[in-house]
Amino acid sequence: MPDRPFVVTIDGPAASGKSSTARMVAEALGARHVDSGSLYRAVTAARIREGDEPQLWTEESVLHAARRVSWQPGETTFLACIDGRPEEAEIRGDAVTALVSQVAQMRHLRLWVNDRVREAATAHEVVADGRDMGTVVFPDAPLKVWLVALPSVRARRRILQRTGREPMPEELEAETEELEARDLRDSEQTQPAPDAVWVDTSGITQAEQVARIVALALERRPN
Ligand code: DC
Repeated sequence: MPDRPFVVTIDGPAASGKSSTARMVAEALGARHVDSGSLYRAVTAARIREGDEPQLWTEESVLHAARRVSWQPGETTFLACIDGRPEEAEIRGDAVTALVSQVAQMRHLRLWVNDRVREAATAHEVVADGRDMGTVVFPDAPLKVWLVALPSVRARRRILQRTGREPMPEELEAETEELEARDLRDSEQTQPAPDAVWVDTSGITQAEQVARIVALALERRPN
């Protein structure tokens, strides 16, 4: 067993509900939520701030921008900060979403993010969500969850979240296509660990998925 507090990993494709599920599971366990995607997003936002064309971005220049990014530990989470400030709206914005997959392919940046995520888990119990938390970052975590949902289900949830209403058929189709394209771009690093517990969220409520994961975590957490 690693000499580290308890870790739960939650991985899965875009819009599978990882972050909101991880946040609620962390809250129920009294652990902290670590959203690894927020670090890739913050580094992308920091790089955008430097102003030149994304086609010119080298891995070296992205790693340089990463120096402006840090974690701010809160009561229940670790917030990704740029120049010491949390910039949630900026890192969730469309400009970052369009460029983050390109940045997340960079091998040395992945090592940098993985180190930051492991650091967050040295002193606290964490629920870490992302793509490769169970395969690369915490392969020995006692509980690894792989969250899945049909692309059309994920697309509907995303539109509902964004607009607060049911999608029109053509909106749903466009969003599903966009999600499938993103799945393809992120597919290399988005894999379930061989011993992950699969949770298909297509037909269950968020409260049910959270309850299921919390129950598994309590079974596996040492007393
Ligand atoms: O989950 P998200 O949309 O916030 O992730 C943002 C991007 O970062 C997305 O392109 C996938 C990538 N990512 C990754 O490659 N590995 C992770 N552990 C987390 C996110």
